[in-house]
Amino acid sequence: TVIVLDFGGQYNQLITRRIRDLGVYSELHSHKMTAAEIKEKNPIGIIFSGGPNSAYAPGAPTCDPAIYDLGVPILGICYGMQLMTQHFGGKVEQASQREYGKALLEVAHESQLFEGTPASQPVWMSHSDKIVVPPTGFTVDGTSDSCPVAAMSDTSRNLYGVQFHPEVRHSQHGNELLKNFAFSICNAKGDWSMENFVEEQISKIREQVGDRQVLCALSGGVDSSVVAVLIHRAIGDQLTCMFIDHGLLRKGEAESVMKTFSEGFNMNVVKIDASERFLGKLKGVTDPEEKRKIIGNEFIYVFDEESAKLKDKEMEFLAQGTLYTDIIESGTDTAETIKSHHNVGGLPEDMKFKLIEPLSALFKDEVRAVGTELGIAEEVVWRQPFPGPGLGIRVLGEITDEKLEIVRESDAILREEIKKAGLDRDIWQYFTALPNMRSVGVMGDARTYDYTVGIRAVTSIDGMTSDWARIPWDVLEKISTRIVNEVPHVNRIVYDITSKPPSTIEWE
Ligand code: XMP
Repeated sequence: TVIVLDFGGQYNQLITRRIRDLGVYSELHSHKMTAAEIKEKNPIGIIFSGGPNSAYAPGAPTCDPAIYDLGVPILGICYGMQLMTQHFGGKVEQASQREYGKALLEVAHESQLFEGTPASQPVWMSHSDKIVVPPTGFTVDGTSDSCPVAAMSDTSRNLYGVQFHPEVRHSQHGNELLKNFAFSICNAKGDWSMENFVEEQISKIREQVGDRQVLCALSGGVDSSVVAVLIHRAIGDQLTCMFIDHGLLRKGEAESVMKTFSEGFNMNVVKIDASERFLGKLKGVTDPEEKRKIIGNEFIYVFDEESAKLKDKEMEFLAQGTLYTDIIESGTDTAETIKSHHNVGGLPEDMKFKLIEPLSALFKDEVRAVGTELGIAEEVVWRQPFPGPGLGIRVLGEITDEKLEIVRESDAILREEIKKAGLDRDIWQYFTALPNMRSVGVMGDARTYDYTVGIRAVTSIDGMTSDWARIPWDVLEKISTRIVNEVPHVNRIVYDITSKPPSTIEWE
């Protein structure tokens, strides 16, 4: 394991990812992690991340100084290097000019870190402080125009620092530096792979569960699907999945989930048709937050009631598709708080289940790799995000059967055409929404007064920010024509061209 200590920089998760991509397991932890806690993890290397603070400022985040005595190689990146400098008596001060973007690094001394990389290389800088005097014992390994100490090392103590960001692709040889750190300096074996991960998890789940029963709420989304298949691989019929149809699913979704898991994987899937119950509760409700609340709560009631009915099997464990990012976001102190969503999968805490969360060490794309490894179909593994409240937040205002039908049918057409155009992997999310408005149109010489359908399609990395997708006009035209022709009561199509912020991806 390579431990990355989080000092609040924006690329921290990326460092962890890059190390993992080298086949070396890596975890991101709070900078408050003590030397003793780190030692327990038996790491082969430690990386101090970047961060927004000034190492010399009062109250700036630090680390347990005993970490330096663990005898484990340390690489400080940006703030991480400045912190190290400060600790060992060097001098960090504010640079006269903030440096952000590409710079040319001149390698002055080839430490192991720079092995096999050119003497002059483009790197990515993002800092406003710089090191003016390195600590005693350190050699200056690299300089740039505005940075007299852009890289340094004390090989006798196995301490390395770089001012730039090797984890960012713009640092052309960054990956080689990380590789050198992991393999030459930390002696990593490089045997972390999805295949090994699956095997390890399977034996772990078997050991944990024994001959007891596991329940899993299956939504058909990537995470719950991968969890379900992984656990099924481990314990077969000791797993029961529950799939709740709340009546707010997309066209063909319930059938496809049942087909994939019940037939394809031969899993125990209990399908609960709770549409009437949900739609009944939502009748007449127009406020978006109230709608979300009703859907979320109802989901919990249904899950509770239905799991209690599974009396013949005593469920002891509940499987959840918690991801590493969920844990980081609540766990490392420094990450900006991310807008918390009302996740329909969020089950009550007082349920008497023990939790199984086999994906809690993985990032989203690693989950996809595990899914592929487990033989789950591409459509599931690459499924676009779909919110827990489903179409309930895409029919604006009051939800009626007629409106749901319009959204369902128009969305199916949109999905079909996007796929046909080969755009389904490039666009993060694409769907139709039904604003609560009608307008005048003309069809076959007659006046119409019908609904407007909005098309939303966005590109994004994580859903936190997004831009509208530049769908070619002829594709948009085809979608528009088809929806108006094929979906009754629609006479107008609009395309949403706002980014997030200031908009959000969903319309409610
Ligand atoms: P917004 O609309 O906030 O959405 O820009 C960002 C991402 O989150 C999804 N989303 C939700 N997911 N429950 C969920 O599980 C929710 O209540 C919810 N609301 C939005 C949205 O589809 C997008 O991917």
